[in-house]
Amino acid sequence: MQRILITGANRGLGLELTRQYLERGDHVLAASRQPEAARELQALRRQYAERLTLLALDVTDEASIAAAAAGAAGAVDGLELLINNAGVYQPGGPGAAQRLGQLTAAGAAEIFAVNAVGPVLVTQALLPLLRAGRKGCIVSVSSGLGSLTWKAAGDPYHYSASKAALNMYMRSLAAEVGHQGVLSVIVDPGWMRTGMGGDHASQDPADSARGILRLADQLHAEENGGFVTWQNQPVPW
Ligand SMILES: NC(=O)c1ccc[n+]([C@@H]2O[C@H](COP(=O)([O-])OP(=O)(O)OC[C@H]3O[C@@H](n4cnc5c(N)ncnc54)[C@H](OP(=O)(O)O)[C@@H]3O)[C@@H](O)[C@H]2O)c1
Repeated sequence: MQRILITGANRGLGLELTRQYLERGDHVLAASRQPEAARELQALRRQYAERLTLLALDVTDEASIAAAAAGAAGAVDGLELLINNAGVYQPGGPGAAQRLGQLTAAGAAEIFAVNAVGPVLVTQALLPLLRAGRKGCIVSVSSGLGSLTWKAAGDPYHYSASKAALNMYMRSLAAEVGHQGVLSVIVDPGWMRTGMGGDHASQDPADSARGILRLADQLHAEENGGFVTWQNQPVPW
């Protein structure tokens, strides 16, 4: 049984990952901003009481990160996997454009706080538990929109830049902690039918989740610090 902490676990890809790890018998520490309001997580808790721990976590709030790390340490004495999944595309709602002429410092700061800075701070706080796990792995959910090579349009400026920044944070972290036995990989989950991806997206988040489970299970030292698709194909930086 692996012990897995997932951020943004209350909906979308995070909920699907939570469900699949629980179904196969792992212990999930499901982190979300408002666990008491997370109906699907509450229902899963009734089904998997002893293998599902609900944690409150806002990845942009350092006090919340510290409290969640303490809560995790109270529930388990090690973690085998952390999935940095929480993310935002347009915090200000659909009207908050990320096009040239409409960009704001506040818009940039909000997206960077969730997508780039939050994951590295969460990872930093959970490293002691990852080092104490039987194997320590970190999967950070990025996006093909964070690839400099693939970038072919301006919009969405902030989201793309935040995922490129996430990639650099996690590449830096991989270079440092890979030597200490904690492996890290960056994953593009594809365009999924979630709140973020919308109804017209090409992919069922359940398929992306299955791919992420497979690649996390098979992660080798030589793949540390890589950027891959949910099907474990390399993504150009
Ligand atoms: N959907 C796609 O097509 C697509 C494509 C490429 C990459 N991705 C990436 O895949 C990941 C999952 O996306 P998704 O499609 O499942 O998105 P989603 O359905 O919009 O879910 C986003 C999750 O992130 C959480 N979150 C947002 N801000 C947070 C914060 N400050 N602290 C903690 N949690 C926060 C949300 O919690 P609340 O419910 O509290 O808001 C929610 O649980 C994201 O990193 C996203 O960038 C998605």
